[in-house]
Amino acid sequence: MIETGLAGKAVVVTGGAAGIGLATARRFAEEGCRVSVWDVNPPDGTDGFDFQKVDVTSSPAVEAAAQAVLERWGAIDVLVNNAGILRDAQLVRFRDGAVTGLLSDEQFDAVIQVNLRGVFVCTRAVVPSMMAARSGVILNASSVVGLYGNFGQTNYVASKAAVIGMTQTWARELGKFGIRVNAVAPGFIATEMVRSMPEKVLDGMRGHTPLGRMGEPEDIANAYLWLASKAASFVHGTVLSVDGGIVVGT
Ligand code: NAI
Repeated sequence: MIETGLAGKAVVVTGGAAGIGLATARRFAEEGCRVSVWDVNPPDGTDGFDFQKVDVTSSPAVEAAAQAVLERWGAIDVLVNNAGILRDAQLVRFRDGAVTGLLSDEQFDAVIQVNLRGVFVCTRAVVPSMMAARSGVILNASSVVGLYGNFGQTNYVASKAAVIGMTQTWARELGKFGIRVNAVAPGFIATEMVRSMPEKVLDGMRGHTPLGRMGEPEDIANAYLWLASKAASFVHGTVLSVDGGIVVGT
């Protein structure tokens, strides 16, 4: 049994109404944490956690939500920057000598706003209280595609690669305040986001994964829990791949 030291800690999970975020909110709650989920949509049920309607791209909304958690619980010990969206398209589709499609400005900006700006805005809002407490944990959702690129995901890959850059920068800036910063790079996890992909693509993903299956949201929730725990107290500025070995399988 690993001693996590997490019981009673105040944890914020963005995008915690569904998928990986929901599994993560539940996992921290099971561990005895006080958990606040920040999401644009309400979860189906709140199994032991709080819900605040927050759009992570809105600085005023995020600042107000952080203030509300601090007033209620006196601290934000862990922030899981999990909220993310997809708007997939090839950069340029070209068929029979003609352009048949483009990745639009709107698709590019929407993904950068949530997946990149949202991580920046939420982290900036919680870090002052962590600095004052001289402790805290920031965990960021990257992706295996942020490490290796992916067909049809210019915007998403850009956001997930940039999250790694911010993780490394904040590890340098915040380490001396006792704030640990790490990223998780999930492989393909069975959530709505992934289920919306074509079956052909999903088969390809399983085929390239040495463990022969897609991941479950709980696989990633456990990685966040471990990274937030005392057991990971010397893990800082890193990217933990949780991908069934997909990287070595390709
Ligand atoms: P999901 O689509 O199941 O859940 C995402 C949640 O984020 C939803 O509840 C949604 O309402 C919320 N959200 C979206 N925009 C928001 C905003 N502006 N403000 C607040 N909340 C917002 O997604 P999933 O699959 O659980 O992914 C979670 C994270 O993990 C994302 O950052 C994703 O990019 C990343 N990831 C997922 C992988 C997968 O295979 N599912 C693989 C690698 C990374």
